[in-house]
Amino acid sequence: MAGKKISIKLSSGCEMPLIGLGTYARKADPAQFREAVEWGIDAGYRHIDTASSYKNEEEVGEGIANKIKQGIVKREDLFITTKLWNDCHGEKDVIPALKESLKRLKLDYVDLYLIHWPVSVNNKGEDMKIDFLETWRGMEAAVKEGLVRSIGISNFNELQLTRLLKSAINKPVVNQIEINPTLTQHKLVEFCKKHSIVPVAYTPLGLISEARPEFNGKDIIKTDPKLGEIADKYKKTRAQIALRYLIQRGIAVVPKSFTKSRIEENLNIFDFELNKQEMSVVDSYNIDHRCVPGTIFAQHTNYPF
Ligand SMILES: NC(=O)c1ccc[n+]([C@@H]2O[C@H](COP(=O)([O-])OP(=O)(O)OC[C@H]3O[C@@H](n4cnc5c(N)ncnc54)[C@H](OP(=O)(O)O)[C@@H]3O)[C@@H](O)[C@H]2O)c1
Repeated sequence: MAGKKISIKLSSGCEMPLIGLGTYARKADPAQFREAVEWGIDAGYRHIDTASSYKNEEEVGEGIANKIKQGIVKREDLFITTKLWNDCHGEKDVIPALKESLKRLKLDYVDLYLIHWPVSVNNKGEDMKIDFLETWRGMEAAVKEGLVRSIGISNFNELQLTRLLKSAINKPVVNQIEINPTLTQHKLVEFCKKHSIVPVAYTPLGLISEARPEFNGKDIIKTDPKLGEIADKYKKTRAQIALRYLIQRGIAVVPKSFTKSRIEENLNIFDFELNKQEMSVVDSYNIDHRCVPGTIFAQHTNYPF
C-alpha cells in the first residue's frame, strides 16, 4: 500500500506527514518496537516518533532498516523524529546526544529533533537549571552540521515559546504536546499556529488511567455513547473520531499501538469529515485532564504545567 501522503509543510520547508506512529511503551518486549514499526510502514505510515528516553531507538532503527532493505520504502520517503533527553541540555551536549541517537537508529540524519522537555536534569534527576535558550543553540548547530532537517520542542508552554521565538535563529517547527478530547488545549494550539509552529498531539487518544478513579466514566474512547453514535455514522471507531477531530483542527497526531489491526485503524482517518456540530461534541469532552503531567519535574526550573 502506498504511504499516506497527507502532510503539512513546516516552516523549515520540509513536509511532515500529519499522522505518525508513536512508539513509547513503559513495558514492552524489545521485539514489539521493531514489529510495530514494520507493521506501521507496511500499513502506510511514513512518520515515526521515537525518543532517546524511550530506549527503543535500536529496535525502531531495525524496523526501518528492514523495510528499506525489502524495498518497501526509501529513506527519503520517511519522516523520523527523535528527542533530546533532559540530561543533555548543555549546548555542547546536544550534538553528541544526537549522534548517539543516530547510531542507534542506524541513520545519518533525522527529519526532526525535539527538545523533549524544557527542564534539565543530571543523571541523578537533579535540577540542572540549564536555560533552554542555551540548549536551542546546540539544536541549531545540529542543523548546520546536517544531522537533522528540522528542529522543534515538546512540552513548552506559551511563555517559554515566546522567549524561545525571540532569540531563535532557526524557529521551532513544531511543539509536541498532549492534546486529545479531554485536553483540547485551544489556547496553546492557536498560539502555535499564529507563530507557524505546527502543534503535534501526543497521547492523542487520551486514555485515562484506571489508577485515577476520580475520572471514572470520563474515558470517552472506551465507552462514550454520543461518540459511539458519531463513530457508527461514519463506520469508524471512537479512536478514529478522536484522531480525525485533531487532524481537522490542523493538529498532527502520533498515536501509538503495538496491535497490528489498531495500527492500521488509526491511519484510516482520511476518507471522512466531521461536521461542525460533531466537532463541538468532541470539544465538549474537555476536562483539562493531563495523562502526562510530568509531575517528577514539578519542582524543577521551567516545569511547563
Ligand atoms: N513528547 C512527549 O513528552 C510525549 C509524551 C507521551 C507520548 N509521546 C509520544 O506520543 C505517542 C502516543 O502517545 P501515548 O502512547 O501516550 O498514547 P496514545 O497513542 O493516545 O494511546 C496509546 C494506547 O492506546 C491504545 N490504542 C491505540 N490505538 C487504539 C485504538 N484504535 N483503539 C483503542 N485503543 C487504542 C494502545 O494500545 P495497544 O498498543 O495495545 O494497541 C495504547 O494503550 C507515544 O507513543 C510517543 O511516541 C510523547
